[in-house]
Amino acid sequence: MDVFKAIAERFSYRGPYRDEQVPRDDLRRIVEAGLLAPSGKNAQTTRFVIVDDPDLLERIGAIPSANRSLREAKALIACIVDVNPEAIYEGFAFQIEDCAAAVENMLLAVTALDYASVWVDGWLRVEGRAHAIGAMLGVPDGKVIRVLLPVGVPEGERRQPPKMPFEQRAFFNRFGA
Ligand SMILES: Cc1cc2nc3c(=O)[nH]c(=O)nc-3n(C[C@H](O)[C@H](O)[C@H](O)COP(=O)(O)O)c2cc1C
Repeated sequence: MDVFKAIAERFSYRGPYRDEQVPRDDLRRIVEAGLLAPSGKNAQTTRFVIVDDPDLLERIGAIPSANRSLREAKALIACIVDVNPEAIYEGFAFQIEDCAAAVENMLLAVTALDYASVWVDGWLRVEGRAHAIGAMLGVPDGKVIRVLLPVGVPEGERRQPPKMPFEQRAFFNRFGA
């Protein structure tokens, strides 16, 4: 799929999934897209755990307030960063940005392969959910799941909410011009 088509068709999916497995080859291709993302000083700080074990999926989906895509996902991809990221350039750490770049690449790969996902981040930070899921996945002390991506074949509507027009958010040469 052309990259601009994948960008246009990507959307956050929180609905039901079809009862169809996601083959490991596809999961690998999706995560490899994440591994190819840029990272600060090419430090490649992010780590990934791909979950396709039905028992683990059930335990994660059973966490109260998990959305339907988390409950029904055939696979989950956890993007993991350090709790206290090391500064690697002039006192700055870039692990959050590294993770975000990898996640967007993976979301585009998900779209190109005709699956659907949603960037779960805010939800993870509440009520110790990131640490609870990390414990299930053997994430070591000092590391934390920053983003979780459910993956599956969507049963519901594929729709991206409207975005503001170019002129409202982007400018040539001078802010607001
Ligand atoms: C940093 C970040 C955190 C997000 N956290 C969540 C989340 O915890 N749960 C969720 O359902 N969606 C989450 N989203 C998805 C956004 O709600 C979604 O991208 C936004 O509503 C725009 O919709 P679209 O992705 O379909 O364009 C997050 C997105 C980003 C970029």
